[in-house]
Amino acid sequence: MKALTENEQITEGAVIRDMAAPTMPDKSLDSLYRQPLPAKRTGALYSAFPYPTKISPEAIALYIAAHTQPGDTVFDGFGGSGTTGLAALLCERPTDELRKQADSLGLDVEWGARNAVLYEIGVLGSFIGHTLTNPPDPTAFKQAVEEVLAASEREDGWMYEACDPTGAKGSLRHLIWSDKLECPNCRDVVILWEACVSLNPAKISSTFICPKCNHEARLTDVPRVTIQEYDDVLGERRTLRDRAMARVYGSTANKRWSRPATAADLALYEKINAEPIPPGVPQALIPWGDLYRAGYHQGISHVHHFYTRRNLIVFARMWQRVEAYHGALRDGLRFWLLSYNAAHGTIMTRVVAKSGQKDLIVTSAQPGVLYVSGLPVEKNLYAGLRRKASTITEAFETIHGGRGNVEVVNGSSSNVALPRASIDYVFTDPPFGANIPYAELNFINEAWLKKFTDRTDEAIVSPQQGKSIDEYQTLLTRSFSEMRRILKPSGKLTVVFHSASAEVWNALQRAYQDAGFDVECAGVLDKTQGSFKQVTAKGAVRGDPVLLLGPRGVAEYRDEVQGEVEECVWAVATALRRVAAAENDPAESTAQRLYSRLVTHYLTRHQQVPLDADTFYRWYAEFSPGGPCRAED
Ligand SMILES: C[S@@+](CC[C@H](N)C(=O)[O-])C[C@H]1O[C@@H](n2cnc3c(N)ncnc32)[C@H](O)[C@@H]1O
Repeated sequence: MKALTENEQITEGAVIRDMAAPTMPDKSLDSLYRQPLPAKRTGALYSAFPYPTKISPEAIALYIAAHTQPGDTVFDGFGGSGTTGLAALLCERPTDELRKQADSLGLDVEWGARNAVLYEIGVLGSFIGHTLTNPPDPTAFKQAVEEVLAASEREDGWMYEACDPTGAKGSLRHLIWSDKLECPNCRDVVILWEACVSLNPAKISSTFICPKCNHEARLTDVPRVTIQEYDDVLGERRTLRDRAMARVYGSTANKRWSRPATAADLALYEKINAEPIPPGVPQALIPWGDLYRAGYHQGISHVHHFYTRRNLIVFARMWQRVEAYHGALRDGLRFWLLSYNAAHGTIMTRVVAKSGQKDLIVTSAQPGVLYVSGLPVEKNLYAGLRRKASTITEAFETIHGGRGNVEVVNGSSSNVALPRASIDYVFTDPPFGANIPYAELNFINEAWLKKFTDRTDEAIVSPQQGKSIDEYQTLLTRSFSEMRRILKPSGKLTVVFHSASAEVWNALQRAYQDAGFDVECAGVLDKTQGSFKQVTAKGAVRGDPVLLLGPRGVAEYRDEVQGEVEECVWAVATALRRVAAAENDPAESTAQRLYSRLVTHYLTRHQQVPLDADTFYRWYAEFSPGGPCRAED
């Protein structure tokens, strides 16, 4: 164990930062990788459809514009919701902001449409990507949305009727349902809302207090009440969680109100219960995998169990109406319905208590999981779909009528039907290990499309799919090898990736090395607000590392690596921290950013990432800024 002097640390830090882009071949690209590139999480293109871990198309457009010429073809082998395709098209009509950003970075850019080919294994992802990059005429889309909404509201609008506290007629905005619990002491049935929720200020307590016997317990230890019910989609009886209406939120003549549920609300629900199930409702058995939780998924075996009966019927009838349209317009309308469906139309919609607020805040489904809370929310589909339609119309307007061509293939990038040396540049962000099982997550929306993802080649770590880190690495290698084959000899590949696990980073590294790529330089993509999983997951990373890879002979690479001298990780970490402090940018000094810098430090030197984020964070917490910095073996 040897302590570094301050001078040694700063000197070494300077060397580290200078070597962040050791072999940057083109100086005009330097600033693109040298400083953190901001990636917004707003705008019509970004917000048109929720898809986990997607990146702002404007940020990707900068990479594409800097690495290619108009008319070139870009490839993404993990296409997701098609953002790389959108970015290629955006190069034809860059926004003022995009132009300014390119200028301020000193990038040598010739604007003009690029073409793109995207491979995406997921049925939902490829549907989103195809529709966004090949949108219907926005005027026809807007008109069709109005037709569908008007017809649906005429027939089914009564289902969202609700009276205000004075008895005046209005409509439902949303309704909070509540699980029923069995008090462990008095065995009485208690509504979770009554035991754990208070308003003014809003609070959801994790402690259960029985309103009847005052017994206290941890909410997680209190059993849920279940009931047996006839399921008329499946034609059989099933056991499900029993729930009660907790609170009704509505509006009357633009005035918003809320109140407890009344007998009229219950009577309306009885009437809805008597409505027949529309024929289009999917009878889809969920192939539960990594996202299944015995607690909150109790009774949920089929897709329709994620819906209240009201929203299931209203949604299914709108889905049926959309069948009357054809081609790109029908795709656009399905896209619109699905953009709201899983995240807002199901019982995954939640309420949260925010400090200083009188009432609970309604939010969408928790991203990246299929979580159902004890207080699920039923939203009015019409209000939300109307809002979504204007965002989607704006997104379609931005893209429609351009000259670039985007082809989206629903298939695995481990087998690409493109000729050798046909692609100018690759931009991609592969799945991050076990972070998100996309196919499982997207199953609800795919059930409406009546087509499901073939998970065989899905490149993830998944205990349920029997895919360990080795299988993950093999699948990544196959995809990177295809990218290597189709890239022109001078072509580059930009990879955005994040993981809190050294094992996952090293699997990625071996995959691109075995495919014949080598890191030329690295940077950080600064998502202005981390995705949910990034900011909450244990050891989460903030700011995704970006790697620029270039083709290179594998044998040549291995020779060089064997000659590398292993560095002491804590000396590197200490030096990076000193440099960040000297830069006076608080974002650079966060533990998360420093871990990203540590990762790219090792990858640019073709060395393995030596430690997980949480080990790094423990070290970071121990040696607080200004405190003793030591280098340890
Ligand atoms: C991190 S996401 C990409 C997000 C994307 N950049 C976007 O804009 O939405 C990774 C994607 O890779 C897909 N995928 C996983 N294995 C694949 C494979 N073998 N071939 C093609 N796509 C794959 C997943 O379904 C997922 O959509």
